[in-house]
Amino acid sequence: MTTQEALEPDMTSEEVTGKPPPNGGRVEHMFQTTKFADFIDRDDALEQPEHIVAQELSVWYREVEAVKKINLGIRKGRVTAIIGPSGCGKSTFLRAINRMNDLIPGCRVTGSLLLDETNINDTRVDVVALRQRVGMVFQKPNPFPKFIFDNVAYGPRLLGIRNRGRLMQIVEDSLRRAALWQEVKDRLFENALGLSGGQQQRLCIARALAVDPEILLMDEPASALDPKATVHIENLISELRGDYTIVIVTHNMQQAARVSDYTAFFYEGDLIEYGDTEGIFTKPKLKQTEDYITGRFG
Ligand SMILES: Nc1ncnc2c1ncn2[C@@H]1O[C@H](COP(=O)(O)OP(=O)(O)OP(=O)(O)O)[C@@H](O)[C@H]1O
Ligand SMILES: [Mg+2]
Repeated sequence: MTTQEALEPDMTSEEVTGKPPPNGGRVEHMFQTTKFADFIDRDDALEQPEHIVAQELSVWYREVEAVKKINLGIRKGRVTAIIGPSGCGKSTFLRAINRMNDLIPGCRVTGSLLLDETNINDTRVDVVALRQRVGMVFQKPNPFPKFIFDNVAYGPRLLGIRNRGRLMQIVEDSLRRAALWQEVKDRLFENALGLSGGQQQRLCIARALAVDPEILLMDEPASALDPKATVHIENLISELRGDYTIVIVTHNMQQAARVSDYTAFFYEGDLIEYGDTEGIFTKPKLKQTEDYITGRFG
């Protein structure tokens, strides 16, 4: 299967990438057509240790097993995409990584989820400290109705940082990392709700980065944004790659192919196939995966 068949059957390489096709239009390999092909060193990605390891991990909503005995290792400093049709357990799995499911009545987890070899489901784990290590960004940008500055300073203040100069430094660093600083540096003391949707999402990313997490969970972070704002978020993910372990849920196959090193395909709570993104999109082992990524169902 070629890239175009896998991703966008009716589009030319130029339409997909905005660039003239390599090889005079003959596309042999999907990453030749993607923006991050040159950025990501795929061999190097294979060397990274596992940061998050799910072992026989199940998540139940009362009697319903929404994630079913999943075994999967997520590599440090790399981008892992979770794909699959609606209701297959992507968000449930993501929330298991920072124990956000604890907040849902009737939700329980079995099996284990290791973060640097500590089982985060152990009752002795400090959930507040865990969520500092594992930040989350949601589909719909959800800034607080406060100043831009206060949004980013929120987490550091909760951690007890009061010094104004120190807070300002953290706010600036976080906004720079989230590629938003230039756009907001003169309006830090304006309400965050006055920003565009794409800016609000980058602000939410800055807010997550401000407490210095190791892992960033992103649940369809660009699905509510226009194409330009989406490109911004995708570029940002590629910038953050290496410094953070990123797990991104997306319904956009091109996006998964562009930004991720690894892809996990979920279906009805099962992990069907998991591997390096190139392999999943160009030569999936299972027909079910191929059918999904080619848009035959889901
Ligand atoms: N709070 C909840 N209470 C009960 N069942 C839930 C709850 N949240 C999710 N579920 C169920 O768990 C299953 C997995 O849902 P989940 O939201 O993880 O899917 P998803 O893959 O993220 O879907 P989507 O792509 O639509 O966001 C679904 O059957 C859903 O109905
Ligand atoms: Mg979801």
